[in-house]
Amino acid sequence: MKVLVVGAGGREHALVRALARSPQRPEVLSAPGNPGIARDARVFDIAVDDFDGIAELAEREDVGLVVVGPEAPLVAGLVDELAARGRAAFGPRRAAAELEGSKAFAKEIMAAAGVPTAGWTAVDDVDAGMAAIERYPAVLKFDGLAAGKGVVIATGEAEAREALQGFLVERRFGPGLVVVEEYLEGEELSLLALCDGERAVPMAPAQDYKRIFDGDLGPNTGGMGSYSPVAGVDAQRAAEITRLVHQPVVDELRRRGTPFHGVLYAGLMLTDAGPKVIEFNVRFGDPEIQALLPRLRSDLLDLLSRCTTPGGLAGAELEWDSRWAVTLVLASAGYPQSASNGDVISGLEAVPAGVEVTHAGTATGPDGAIVTAGGRVLNVTALGRDPAAARDAAYAAADPITFEGRQLRRDIALRAVERSR
Ligand code: AMP
Ligand code: GLY
Repeated sequence: MKVLVVGAGGREHALVRALARSPQRPEVLSAPGNPGIARDARVFDIAVDDFDGIAELAEREDVGLVVVGPEAPLVAGLVDELAARGRAAFGPRRAAAELEGSKAFAKEIMAAAGVPTAGWTAVDDVDAGMAAIERYPAVLKFDGLAAGKGVVIATGEAEAREALQGFLVERRFGPGLVVVEEYLEGEELSLLALCDGERAVPMAPAQDYKRIFDGDLGPNTGGMGSYSPVAGVDAQRAAEITRLVHQPVVDELRRRGTPFHGVLYAGLMLTDAGPKVIEFNVRFGDPEIQALLPRLRSDLLDLLSRCTTPGGLAGAELEWDSRWAVTLVLASAGYPQSASNGDVISGLEAVPAGVEVTHAGTATGPDGAIVTAGGRVLNVTALGRDPAAARDAAYAAADPITFEGRQLRRDIALRAVERSR
């Protein structure tokens, strides 16, 4: 069977590698892929928004399953287009993908389904936004796709006004509303569940690091590192959270005639009053999935295929390696405000056995060298029998991989190490 992974980032590279490990021995294709993916899959130079191109490729190659990685083509209806042409695809259709496409829609679904989340108001002008803020810190979120950068935690009035101005007047991410949200305190958890339209089956828990600098300082990024599992969140606790959060959403969307097939990613805050949803994503977390997939012992291809049919996950149980996984993100100079392209990357040849290096933002330079091509450049994932061993192995593998202006947080999974002592 052939499987086609749509996308060009570290998430898609991790998916390509995990699918290639399937005992079904699929042939893995990718569009557009990247230079790292090209080593593990047959790549086609077709952009993720070229729906005709992707559908034609799937037909021409008789692809058995298309796996859509990023949110943008999901929100724009790629799965609907493939379904119309009779192609099985992993990921929600457009209507269900609105859970990520619009924060206001996600809040409405949560209210209808009784899912705990931060209190909120949607506003369309700066003064209304200022009036909606009850206390600081205040959370201001652009109501559309913004690549992880549409959230500002304002500590005071000046900062809040500037953020509202940027979203609503300067339209940094295009036209759209702003959601003013209650600030939640606690520890964050990423819990992803595979969904077959009827049922939500949790994956192992993970945590990611959103800020650019050590100690959780600086602006938000798409994610600078991750680890799995998470102390205190065993399989039973993950199942409880799934019953509280993911399953009611799946039930609500099914009731509305827009069932959710794919992966539902809940970004949660574990507050004193229980878990509350910060955001939903309708695709695998990046870089969480880079830490999760090397621990997955079940056949990913089988699981993703089963998500495409109503009730297909009946009886599914995911098996996980008991070891810990730590993923480090190597980012380019200037990230997250900008990205530095064309910096030559050295040290990629000497990756130790058992360490997975996935490409996120790389390109092949004129002389064949691998160069930076984006904010997040590479991901390095290592496994270890405890958090310290996984962390040490990840840094030992990442340190020799260098390029001009490389940014690498030094404190990824430190919290897990401290807790395991
Ligand atoms: P989001 O893109 O919605 O996940 O937000 C990015 C990050 O901002 C989250 O991972 C949190 O660290 C922080 N954040 C978002 N919403 C809240 C909230 N209501 N309370 C506290 N922190 C938040
Ligand atoms: N790691 C955060 C995200 O994928 O949105």
